[in-house]
Amino acid sequence: MDAFRITGGTRLNGRIRVDGSKNAALPEMAAALMAKGPVQLRGLPALSDIDNMARLMAELGCQIERDGQDLRMVTSDDGSWHARYDIVRTMRASICVLGPLLARYGQARVAMPGGCAIGDRPVDLHLRGLEALGARIELDGGDIIARADRLRGNTVFLGGPFGSTVLGTANVMCAATLAEGVTVIESAACEPEISDLAVMLNSMGASITGAGTPRITIRGCTELSGCDHRVMPDRIVAGTLAIASAITNGDVTLEDFPLDHLLAVVDRLQATGVRVQRLDELEPPGRCTIKVTSERRLKPVLFTTQPYPGFPTDLQAQMMTLLCFADGNSIVTEKIFPDRFLHVSELTRMGAQLYRQGGTVVVQGVNRLVGAPVMASDLRGSASLVLAGLAAEGTTTVSRIYHLDRGYKDLELQLNSLGADIERFNADAEDTAETPKTESTRTSSAT
Ligand code: EPZ
Repeated sequence: MDAFRITGGTRLNGRIRVDGSKNAALPEMAAALMAKGPVQLRGLPALSDIDNMARLMAELGCQIERDGQDLRMVTSDDGSWHARYDIVRTMRASICVLGPLLARYGQARVAMPGGCAIGDRPVDLHLRGLEALGARIELDGGDIIARADRLRGNTVFLGGPFGSTVLGTANVMCAATLAEGVTVIESAACEPEISDLAVMLNSMGASITGAGTPRITIRGCTELSGCDHRVMPDRIVAGTLAIASAITNGDVTLEDFPLDHLLAVVDRLQATGVRVQRLDELEPPGRCTIKVTSERRLKPVLFTTQPYPGFPTDLQAQMMTLLCFADGNSIVTEKIFPDRFLHVSELTRMGAQLYRQGGTVVVQGVNRLVGAPVMASDLRGSASLVLAGLAAEGTTTVSRIYHLDRGYKDLELQLNSLGADIERFNADAEDTAETPKTESTRTSSAT
């Protein structure tokens, strides 16, 4: 398994472009299953999650042609509607094919995704929404089996104990586009990825209004055509790169930065003393050029993760790492996935002073972190360990980098182009050479 060897202490400097959004691309690939014509998706990031989704789509009978960062997909009427467990378990986001399959074929069999390293990942809201549209749902051998002779529009409340559901909203919105009549989704996810999906679906002939707000209205139609859609920039990768500049007291310019989708994050960064400067006021705020620099010493802040437009849970670990260097105590509260703190013990190994009480962590600022061997356990936690290694004294090795590769394309190459010193190596080969294998006590699974 690959690992990173990071030599810390370099201040990042330079210019980099933000890639297309993984979390927009995955439901948009799934939506292509409903199209009667070819779907062209542009600007897709080269990530293992995208590869896994392409593998699943091919298994469902979709003809896929890849050209660099562009994907052309054609789905026929005689495709498969069974998403098997051995693919779904590698990427729980596969659940987003459920709505499109049901809408296209009137039936779907999708393995229950199960939990992951950041917590339980129930899909009860997905099923509630599809049942409201007339689907008959049963569970058999770990699979969700959904059937509907004809989906019918309805009003459905999709809020849960932790707020709205992003992929649940995507599933219900997709299914509703081919339902008979009007569907209103109340307490819909407002995330930009849902808005981007709605733009794509409307370009296929759907009639969706209100995407990006808690109430989405979908007027069903009988058929969806193909389309040509460019995926929005990845706001989580963008936020991670901004924090990489800040944590190294660097000076980095980011292109295609979705400033409009990161106002909560920029608000907290600026509160610590990080400067986020927009360089071209004429560019659209969804794809603009910004420069990130920071004071030598940062101020402590409080933040709580919330559904959009609040502070995104996917940047909680990265922001916590930055706050390890603040002058004073910061408080981080995780409201979406209250157990999303596997990075806390690893940061502590590097000298961070973190005190967890349930869903809240007090971050006591320290003068330095010291490089150490640490282990990645989930996608965004692994990004926070890389950030820590950039700013730590000495060398940090981050193992199980396959977690990182799910959501960040060649992150070491991107950061090295800004002056970082990160080497990717095969930890198994080095382990075999140097020390006897020790059985890891941690299990890891896809988030
Ligand atoms: C999406 O996951 C993202 N993944 C996650 O990013 C992100 O953390 C999450 O939204 C929250 O923003 C993709 O888009 C592929 P949810 P999703 O349904 O849709 C509870 C990353 O790092 N819930 O919005 O699966 C759930 O337990 C990944 O890129 C129910 O209770 O998340 C959680 O507490 C990690 N019942 C909250 O809602 C349900 O039926 C939000 O989950 C569904 C969810």
